Amino acid sequence: MSGLSGLLGLEGVGADTLLTLLDLAESMRDVLTRPIKKVPTLRGKSVINAFFEPSTRTRMSFEYAAKVLSADVMNFSASNSSLTKGETLLDTARTLEALKPDILVVRHGASGAPHFLASRLGCAVVNAGDGIHEHPTQALLDLLTVREHRGDFDGLAVAIIGDIAHSRVARSAIHGFVTLGASVRVAGPRTMLPIGIETLGVEAFDRVEPALEGADVVMMLRIQRERLGAVPLFPTLREYSRVFGLNADRLRLAADDALVMHPGPMNKGVEIAPDVADGPWSVILEQVTNGVAARMAVLYLLAQGRAGADAWLKGGLR
Ligand code: NCD
Repeated sequence: MSGLSGLLGLEGVGADTLLTLLDLAESMRDVLTRPIKKVPTLRGKSVINAFFEPSTRTRMSFEYAAKVLSADVMNFSASNSSLTKGETLLDTARTLEALKPDILVVRHGASGAPHFLASRLGCAVVNAGDGIHEHPTQALLDLLTVREHRGDFDGLAVAIIGDIAHSRVARSAIHGFVTLGASVRVAGPRTMLPIGIETLGVEAFDRVEPALEGADVVMMLRIQRERLGAVPLFPTLREYSRVFGLNADRLRLAADDALVMHPGPMNKGVEIAPDVADGPWSVILEQVTNGVAARMAVLYLLAQGRAGADAWLKGGLR
């Protein structure tokens, strides 16, 4: 993967690169189960987490991933920064760059913000979620979780259900699953299905049932209320939940051993019933654990390059 100078999205990332990242992540996951959860490989490297939007899982996961690899981590959060004193995004980012990080991890409410910074800064930039665009490390952890349970992606039917239009998770997941050979169906209210979504290689449904039929993976998404405009996209939450929510009855339409996934934060009782979220089909907490491994893989590959990844996979660096 020489040439991977950052990770801004999964669009255009080939199967070969994705599989290398998944292989790396799988072996990184072993590190997390050791009594001493630390390897020295990124000692002397530094990572800045710059989060301009709220986050629980993603920020902690990047921080922990960097620490397990022995990198130094600095955390920046917009709400208590000079942004509140009128500094621009670029000036804030240049200030962070002046601390000489090797990798800048960026989450921002504007689609394209990490790309904007990547073209202006000298360090590697990783997109930790930009607006409604992409969230590549979330898709990697989703792929990792599915591969752990199913072995590979050929012939798998993946249903992604909910607010597709405002979901960066959906867009990255679609790119990743389609590239690795799964068939992807998306479903949601018509007002939440982007026009032309089929061009990404998915089937789109305005009802949940046909998308769930025989699905091996069911990924539920939160309604991204903070991104909805003033015009309501569905009548009431109650109705949304009744028509588009995943409950145990509906889940019976999917394959018997279907995996239930959710990137979090969940709105239990809206898009997913509590007994389904916490039920035997759910891999939602495994997704969180796998997030650390996936981010370790990304940080590692960016810092050490393809040769480093090969050496790690051969077992020489562990
Ligand atoms: C998602 C996000 O922020 O894009 N969460 C996450 O990173 N795990 C999804 C969401 O906010 O609904």
